[in-house]
Amino acid sequence: MTTGQIKVWDPLVRIFHWTLVTAFFIAYFTEDDLMWLHEPAGYVVLGLVVFRVVWGFVGPRYARFSDFVRGPAVVVQYLKTFFKRDAPRFIGHNPAGGMMVVILLVMLALTALTGIQADEAREGQQASNAIKVIPSAHADDDHKAGEQGEHEDEFWEEAHEVTANLTLILIILHISAVFAHMIIHGENLVRAMLIGEKEE
Ligand code: HEM
Ligand code: HEM
Repeated sequence: MTTGQIKVWDPLVRIFHWTLVTAFFIAYFTEDDLMWLHEPAGYVVLGLVVFRVVWGFVGPRYARFSDFVRGPAVVVQYLKTFFKRDAPRFIGHNPAGGMMVVILLVMLALTALTGIQADEAREGQQASNAIKVIPSAHADDDHKAGEQGEHEDEFWEEAHEVTANLTLILIILHISAVFAHMIIHGENLVRAMLIGEKEE
């Protein structure tokens, strides 16, 4: 008997996912001399997150937040069954996966937004350093303003580094969960995210 296929991930969700993976890793592994690549890749991540939020309200059934966002009690209940072979099956995201989708979207947005702030603070700092080359009658004020700019610079750089690394940890957890699901429940989720279909 041949089993049927259920369409689960629409083409836009799949294109969103694999472009996001590419853009995130480009952004994560480029800095310093490669800022020209880092920043556009980061903006692509932010644009994709905005798209996914909109798609979560207007997209097809399995792409909608209403299909997979569940309260903490349901997530905990599901996690208790995750390692058992007879855990309930979900065609779209399971409750834990759904919660991870939301957390990832928030963390990806925070990473990009802190990056934009770090970039702006850094540019502001460079501009104020250039002004300092011209001797000023208010040297003391200039010095204080410069120090404040440096603190702002450091704050956003630190915030950007922390959010980027926290997001990476979540992604490692996300990928581990996908493979754990595949091993325990024998369902190839990666194939589904590539071709859009799951077995009935
Ligand atoms: C930068 C790295 C990654 C990020 C940011 C990421 C993010 C996401 C997001 C946001 C979703 C939800 C998709 C949606 O509903 O629109 C998702 C789902 C999924 N991702 Fe990833 N992902 C990453 C890497 C990977 C990798 C490397 C794999 C496979 C090896 C993978 C496999 C999957 C699968 C199978 C799903 C669907 C899970 C399910 O059936 O519930 N992801 N991912
Ligand atoms: C969401 C995607 C992004 C990821 C994963 C990411 C990741 C990173 C990482 C890992 C670093 C190095 C942190 C360190 O070790 O000091 C960094 C630095 C930086 N990023 Fe991003 N970034 C992203 C988006 C952006 C965006 C959109 C911008 C600005 C338009 C940006 C601007 C910067 C700047 C200015 C630095 C240098 C800060 C420093 O020198 O420490 N990033 N980013």
